Amino acid sequence: MAMAVGVFDSGLGGLTVLQALRARLPEVPFVYLGDNAHAPYGTREADDIFRLTCAGVERLWDEGCDMVLLACNTASAAALRRMQETWVPADKRVLGVFVPLIEALTERQWGDNSPPREVAVRHVALFATPATVRSRAFQRELAFRAIGVDVEAQPCGGLVDAIEEGDTELAEALVASHVAALKRRMPAPEAAVLGCTHYPLMEAAFAEALGPGVRVFSQPDIVAESLADYLARRPEMLGPGTQPDFLTTGEPGRVGAQATRLLRRATAFRAA
Ligand code: DGL
Repeated sequence: MAMAVGVFDSGLGGLTVLQALRARLPEVPFVYLGDNAHAPYGTREADDIFRLTCAGVERLWDEGCDMVLLACNTASAAALRRMQETWVPADKRVLGVFVPLIEALTERQWGDNSPPREVAVRHVALFATPATVRSRAFQRELAFRAIGVDVEAQPCGGLVDAIEEGDTELAEALVASHVAALKRRMPAPEAAVLGCTHYPLMEAAFAEALGPGVRVFSQPDIVAESLADYLARRPEMLGPGTQPDFLTTGEPGRVGAQATRLLRRATAFRAA
């Protein structure tokens, strides 16, 4: 029987990643934990994000998930490296969403540790939360793998809130203005990275504002493909848990209703 893998997010946005994971790996039970009591992370300090993410990951270990994927870009950017270097025990794994994306962008295989090299893409626009942009984690991870790539990052203030409130008009206006601000600094990006769990829900608006000729990288499918590849090579990292589940640190009834509205699919949560 398949065993459980944990998926951690600051709140509900990670459900966009979970949907892709379930489609790609239907036999794996995923245990999702949303830290809704402390969301959003995108406007928090790095120390705070580290502490909260460690607490969430520990909770998923308690559920029998030896491996936890941080679906949250902000947690992946601001906390993951420090967790891996100082905190994760040898028999557990915590993975993030940035490395698979960068591997897709630089056309590398997972775990290819050869020196950084020149790649086809030269100008990359990154759209993310203020905390993700401030961490510079994307630029740091990219520099390990590619040389000569110019990254211009745009913190998209207000966008997560607008999407969660279901205010599509405001969300579209914010996408247009953030893309315009980015383009003033980088007029012709070849690729754009949607570096936040919520932004795939606005992918069409990003593509339209960016215009033709810009390749938009959205994480869910890329991350799902990477995880499938990882599990094929490291099946021992499937934890002992066997049941899919949805946990929240917030109020389960309210969070479930919000999740159902966001993804147009009924989802019931229980208290973490
Ligand atoms: N999950 C966060 C991310 O992917 C967005 C929501 C938040 O700020 O907590 O960056």
